Amino acid sequence: MTSAIVAEGISKTFGDVEALKSLELDIPEGSFFVLLGPSGAGKTTTLRVLAGLEKPDTGRVLLNGIDATKATPAERDLAMVFQSYALYPKQTAAQNITSPLRARKLPKSEVDAQLKRVSELLHIEELLNRYPAQMSGGQMQRIALGRALVRDPRAFLMDEPLTNLDLKLRVEMRTELTRIHRSLGRTFLYVTNDQVEAMSMADKVAVLREGTVQQVGAPTEIYDGPANRWVATFMGSPRMNMLDCTANGRLEGEGWSLPNPGFGVSGDHRAVFGVRSEDLSLEVRDEATALEGTVYAVEPLGDRTLVDVEVGGQRIVIKAPPTATYKVGEPVRAAVDMERVHLFDAESEQAITRR
Ligand SMILES: Nc1ncnc2c1ncn2[C@@H]1O[C@H](COP(=O)(O)OP(=O)(O)O)[C@@H](O)[C@H]1O
Ligand SMILES: [Mg+2]
Repeated sequence: MTSAIVAEGISKTFGDVEALKSLELDIPEGSFFVLLGPSGAGKTTTLRVLAGLEKPDTGRVLLNGIDATKATPAERDLAMVFQSYALYPKQTAAQNITSPLRARKLPKSEVDAQLKRVSELLHIEELLNRYPAQMSGGQMQRIALGRALVRDPRAFLMDEPLTNLDLKLRVEMRTELTRIHRSLGRTFLYVTNDQVEAMSMADKVAVLREGTVQQVGAPTEIYDGPANRWVATFMGSPRMNMLDCTANGRLEGEGWSLPNPGFGVSGDHRAVFGVRSEDLSLEVRDEATALEGTVYAVEPLGDRTLVDVEVGGQRIVIKAPPTATYKVGEPVRAAVDMERVHLFDAESEQAITRR
């Protein structure tokens, strides 16, 4: 697969803040690529460096294989969509959308044709004569998107574009954006701190923490096979359960013991056992692969019930059916799906693979 955008060993410091530390990214042509990380991880800085709005201290930016590190933003031909809509208040939606084309002095027939194409794509025909003050946040975000789409750039860089929308609209716009991506076939580089957005929209995700890429892969690859303890905890809600243990022929923690399903350790290895709440069940069939504990809290959520259980001195969360009725203080056993458990080195926090 050819690469649309490559970041090669990009470092960027602001004063004594190392925002990016030798960052590596390879974004395939036509993909919906999500850069996922918590606030302060360096996501915006990455986009700004790629777009040419910020000069990296070291490293190179390649666009379709050609070194663009010294190219101006205009030469790079990348469209940015920001979290704030940045619309011109005194222009109508139509004028806002077509401003990049009018700036380039395109003939009116061409401008009108592009406006028609984009407004059909975004379903905003009825908004075109409105001013920003007459639109909702979701409508303004669509117009801002329209202004990026009208240009037909090499790729779209989007910086948390849905963050300011309410939950219902955010869910709607996720579907919209994936539909738009599919119909345009262009490269999308989408920044978010929301792992649900990453899971639902991305072809490929790069997880960013403190200016370095922790893991790159398809959303399910990362969810099912996190490279380290931090990624495991960041991807998924509720968070992956973690229990301290000693790993050898068995995994032994305080008040529990399970067979080692093949993790490659030798000697008594200090480790952290990880299991997601959906890979635990309160219906125990095999006593040999169960954890014992007492119910600490019960949280009914409608479509499922989360049961908090204390095991040894630590707590785990179990996803139970909505009909589950458990009482606080009640002793329970949780069956573990041993095919889906994880083990991390206690020291390095890296995942330990199975033999
Ligand atoms: N212009 C700037 N001046 C000083 N520090 C900055 C500047 N831009 C970003 N930073 C710092 O760099 C780090 C990464 O910021 P940013 O790229 O905005 O992260 P994110 O978008 O993931 O929240 C943060 O610690 C931030 O405070
Ligand atoms: Mg940011």
